[in-house]
Amino acid sequence: MASVIGSVLDKREHDRSDILAMLQCSEEDVPLLYRRAAAVRDRYIGNTIFLRGLIEYSNMCGKNCLYCGIRRQNDKVVRYTLTNDEVIEAALTAHRLKLGSIAIQAGENWSKSFIDNMEELIRTIRKLTDGQLGITLSLGEQSRETYQRWFEAGAHRYLLRIEAASEALYRKVHPDDAMHRYERRIECLRMIQETGYQTGTGVMIGLPFQTMSHLADDVIFMRDFDIDMCGMGPFIEHSDTPLGVNGADNLFMKERFNLTLRMIAIIRIIMKDINIVASTAMQAIDPTGREKAIACGANVVMPNLTPTKYRPGYKLYEGKPAFSEINEQNISGLKLSLIPGTTLGLGVWGDTPHYSRRMARI
Ligand code: 5AD
Ligand code: SF4
Repeated sequence: MASVIGSVLDKREHDRSDILAMLQCSEEDVPLLYRRAAAVRDRYIGNTIFLRGLIEYSNMCGKNCLYCGIRRQNDKVVRYTLTNDEVIEAALTAHRLKLGSIAIQAGENWSKSFIDNMEELIRTIRKLTDGQLGITLSLGEQSRETYQRWFEAGAHRYLLRIEAASEALYRKVHPDDAMHRYERRIECLRMIQETGYQTGTGVMIGLPFQTMSHLADDVIFMRDFDIDMCGMGPFIEHSDTPLGVNGADNLFMKERFNLTLRMIAIIRIIMKDINIVASTAMQAIDPTGREKAIACGANVVMPNLTPTKYRPGYKLYEGKPAFSEINEQNISGLKLSLIPGTTLGLGVWGDTPHYSRRMARI
């Protein structure tokens, strides 16, 4: 008997009902979905897995997202900011290990000193690596001018998760104040795209109040926004946050994990040539989570380069892996090349062809 999902997978274009069919297909059909997604990746962008060395620059944050462990009001967190020397050392390590790119991430900070210093850091890293090390930023909502300055300094990718594309759901997981406006989030994403960055977004999967219909909206949002990169992960409760108590209706962790795999596969099938991250939160639930994400279409991994002593301070959610995981000895220990049919992209930026195609259309 022909599988139900087969005819959906074979379509050239997928509408909302197809997305829902893929989100809800039977367990028997899931391997077909995953295999198709991996095949789409291999066909449209190849089977190389790209790396971004993750530098968690600072856990200071001006915002108060209800789900996040480093929200401003969590006074149990010991706040830190790396010194410039520490950031530069981590960047040079990435360069030496041929990771090709770094991603600098931090809580939201809109101070002049933060913005100026970041600009300086970007310039210094570009200079010290002869422009060879790619720089992704994930520093939240900023002004157009700030996005522009960091772009001109040499950053070329920016990741700002929409978190939940449904405005109603977005409002349920953020405080209702001027600092957490859905419209502002969208405006920032637009500014990032208009500035010229390769633009990434993503959502959390398994948020309280989230339904399949919300997830279908998330996929449609990413498609219609024409994003270049996608970073998604399961929501994981953090006990020191308002959403930290596991509500009776919350999905089991395994379900969130499996749903994230489905979302990765669906986005790959629909958006074909974008970069999709196998997120650390996947690995927090399942030690082989990243490899599983790759097997269903992801093509980017972000090994953590934050100096180990700061890692406990960057706990957005519980169970976040804090071990040191990359150095000269163990780079091949990423074992990605052991995933059948994939290789590691060493020493390259790993830009998405989607971006060049998008820019050619403008
Ligand atoms: N569980 C999973 N992901 C989280 N993030 C923040 N808090 C959590 C949580 N409790 C994600 C958000 C944010 C990114 C930096 O981390 O999506 O954009
Ligand atoms: Fe700050 Fe980002 Fe956490 Fe929100 S999710 S509190 S903006 S670090």
